[in-house]
Amino acid sequence: MQLPLKFFFGSIFFFYLSSLPFVSLADDSASSTSFSYRVEPTPIPPQQGIPQRLSVYEAYRGGDCHGYRAKEISSTEQGVIGSLELIGSPCYAYGTDYKKLFLNVTYETEERIHVSIRDINSTQFQFSSRHDVWDAPLYHPSSVNQFNVHYNFSFNADPFEFWITRKSDGEVLFDTRGHPLIFEDQYIELTTNMVEDYNIYGLAETIHGLRLGNNLTRTFWANDEASPLDQNMYGTHPFYLEQRYNPVNDSSTQQQKHTSSSHGVLMLTANGMDVVLRPKYLQYRMIGGIIDLYVYSGSKKPQNTITQFIESVGFPQMQQYWTLGFHMCRWGYENIDEIIQVRENMRKFDIPIETFWSDIDYMHNMRDFTVDPISYPREQMIDFFHDIELAHQHFVPIVDAAVYAANPSNRSDDSYGPYYEGIEKDVFLKNPDGSLYIGEVWPGFTVFPDFTNPSVQDYWKHGIHNMSYALGSNSSDYIPFSGLWLDMNEPSSYCVGSCGSELVNMNPVHAPFKLPGEPNDLTLNYPEGFNLTNETEYASASSASLSQYYATATSSMQVVYPTAVSEGQQPKYDINHPPYAINTEQGNHDLANHGVSPNATHHDGTLRYNLFNVYGYGEIKVTHKALTDLQPEVRPFILSRSTFLGSGVYSAHWLGDNHSNWPNMFFSISGMMVFNMLGVPMVGADVCGFQDNSDEELCARWMAMGAFSPFYRNHNQQGSIRQEPYLWASVAESSRRAMNIRYSLLPYWYTLFRQASYDGSTLIRPLFFEFPDEPSLAGADRQFMVGDSLLITPVLEPNTTTVNGVFPGDEDTVWYDWYNHTAIEHKPYENKTMDAPLEHINVAVRGSKIIPMQQPAYTTEETRENPFNLLVALDKQGTAYGNVYADDGVSLTPNATLWVDFSAESNKLSSASFGTYNVHVPLANVTILGVSSSPKQIQFNNNSVNSFTYSDRTQELVVTNLDKFTSAGAFASNWTITW
Ligand code: NOJ
Repeated sequence: MQLPLKFFFGSIFFFYLSSLPFVSLADDSASSTSFSYRVEPTPIPPQQGIPQRLSVYEAYRGGDCHGYRAKEISSTEQGVIGSLELIGSPCYAYGTDYKKLFLNVTYETEERIHVSIRDINSTQFQFSSRHDVWDAPLYHPSSVNQFNVHYNFSFNADPFEFWITRKSDGEVLFDTRGHPLIFEDQYIELTTNMVEDYNIYGLAETIHGLRLGNNLTRTFWANDEASPLDQNMYGTHPFYLEQRYNPVNDSSTQQQKHTSSSHGVLMLTANGMDVVLRPKYLQYRMIGGIIDLYVYSGSKKPQNTITQFIESVGFPQMQQYWTLGFHMCRWGYENIDEIIQVRENMRKFDIPIETFWSDIDYMHNMRDFTVDPISYPREQMIDFFHDIELAHQHFVPIVDAAVYAANPSNRSDDSYGPYYEGIEKDVFLKNPDGSLYIGEVWPGFTVFPDFTNPSVQDYWKHGIHNMSYALGSNSSDYIPFSGLWLDMNEPSSYCVGSCGSELVNMNPVHAPFKLPGEPNDLTLNYPEGFNLTNETEYASASSASLSQYYATATSSMQVVYPTAVSEGQQPKYDINHPPYAINTEQGNHDLANHGVSPNATHHDGTLRYNLFNVYGYGEIKVTHKALTDLQPEVRPFILSRSTFLGSGVYSAHWLGDNHSNWPNMFFSISGMMVFNMLGVPMVGADVCGFQDNSDEELCARWMAMGAFSPFYRNHNQQGSIRQEPYLWASVAESSRRAMNIRYSLLPYWYTLFRQASYDGSTLIRPLFFEFPDEPSLAGADRQFMVGDSLLITPVLEPNTTTVNGVFPGDEDTVWYDWYNHTAIEHKPYENKTMDAPLEHINVAVRGSKIIPMQQPAYTTEETRENPFNLLVALDKQGTAYGNVYADDGVSLTPNATLWVDFSAESNKLSSASFGTYNVHVPLANVTILGVSSSPKQIQFNNNSVNSFTYSDRTQELVVTNLDKFTSAGAFASNWTITW
């Protein structure tokens, strides 16, 4: 059931609405472009900031630092406290050393230890004391003591060094021995020794293969950049999982095998940081804050370590059922007609579509909380919403973090309430001198809500509420959006610093570069292999509009290196250009470049420098509360570009502005795996690619793989050729086939989400999570598992009709082909070549699992109305297990839920239901794989069942027509099926 966002607030909320959607266009309609904005680029040239010399490439400055010695240490059953005293004189590596520090080690849970080190007078910013900004379960530890925890904390006093071991096997999990601690006002360095060839995962967000390797610098600085390899991007999650393998000799087979263990490490900070991964060590280099280190002792199974971690930052929210359908988006739907056309075409080509997304095209002049009255006119919009509601489809619009700064000398801007209301409530970020911080985003010069300001909550809720009535103030005019898409929330800003302070009289302008799709731009690229296989597309391609990426402006600035420090000289405290220059990706590595600069100031005087990486999270949280206030019963659906630790509690994430090419398709697998490890399981890439032009082959493969992403959305950039799945015959076919599987698996997906929200289980899972003792899987990221039952082997390169993959497990592990239901012949870990025609994706079902399914239909709602089926994949012992979770699919706190456990053994399949939610549709069919001989008779409870087929060749038993026994509901009572 869809519950649209209908809000029931009085007219007091409409004070800026009456004129809002219908503002005069007279001032800005000069341009003849057909885009919804009608303004010219600002004359401010693209800026690159002041060039910084990256410290990570400089000679190491910590060589003269001797660390600290421990004093007055006392140990209790709950931890260790004491002070640390600087050894020798300050070393001024990249700041001024604190002479005295406070050490506080807390045994927080049986598996989690917290090491906190701060300056004794607490002058450094302490993120962990800002519960108003980030409040996580880890602030509410359980009561444990040194005897029942699973780890030990040990230290040397002079110099102070510590190490943490796992009690059960003595493994050293974190170990600073040999590396002096450096603790300065703008530079903190903490180093741990690492085992040889370590396997670590996480430290997101970056584009990299799954395993991070041991020669990489990971930088934490929320950044708007399109898919830069190995560099900082939108989100920051300073957590890693480490997986270790220890050889053991199997005396029975004389083969060398391995046992494994895993643990996790979190450095809790919102400050900028480089994490330097080198062959023998891993080093944190932070430019502010204090040390808040958490080590999770883990266990044999990586999933258990992940559960320990996610439990501490917050288990992810449960998603609404409809969100699992297919989402279609494009930046560049110039008017509502185009979206209506897409809807009609999808239906015509019989390709399911659940949700229509609107990018900034729908806004009036790209301003938040408005609708363009010309290209998205009221009557048509109302009709469209009416149609999609009837069809159980959905609509999600974009909201940008930046709010248009109204031009004080332009009277038509007076009606732009989101700006004036924000001014009145004083909720925007400031400059250090108290003036407004004004940056530049799509609509021109903009201000940025301070999401840490208590008054921002009402302000933002008001904006969202008003947007739902941006077509008019009649109750019939509401925009029934089913969720919100939060973009540009690092936040991005296209100039350096508060560049608009003196220039708002020029508004509206737009970004200082040509937007994609505007004339005179560079030709867009096509995927590798395009010329080889897709020449027939030339005609359509050549008629596609030319466009450009961001203009690559050359800076005329001189290199001045403001961070240079001469010998013996104390580094100068500097907020925008700290002495230690982290390796942030933007041109010139200036921290103020392409984002709201570090010296922007929050309502209480806190510098953005200290809260830099948590801005997007703040917006998510405030949006989440606004949505729950406005519609208290419904789980909010929010998709956010920037994320921080714990964002999954409130939000989904897409992997940002990727490119239409094969490497980006490949990297999206590790992207999804990592965000699943970070507690943000509702994740997916822009399917078919965002930037550049997709092509038939790439899009066919990606639409198929995307059907196995938790969040399944096709989205691309204005100016690139269109890529709706019906545009190419093979893409349409591969989409139909893969969506047929996805929709039939909706009960399985939904159950996985419930599990994730309960214990942090991953949905998209690396193979080593399920097979942790096999070292060759440590870096496996060309295949992935959906839950514990399905193995997906996508084609990730052009010009091929085969794909290689492994089938993990031991001699006893059975894998069945999804399509023909036969056991796949394979040797364990053999790299097997499989057929993979263009419209086909290889999917294998793991023996020993039972998968709940429903007859697929055009929408998730229609699918929910179809009968259930079960796929029982027996292992060699004839056993299998599985479960299904069901509720109303919408409610924040459902008043009824249902869990059903399934187990099969000794030719008997049983169900056991727990809970009161009534799945009213029947169970129709049960397909059992791995049945070695034709059954003599089949019984459902005590009733004989005559409708079944058995195939000797595939060893498959299909029992049909069970609905006559289950008309009260598939799981209304427990049942058994015997054969
Ligand atoms: C950047 C986002 O990442 C992209 O998805 C969106 O299309 C553009 N902003 C325009 O809003």
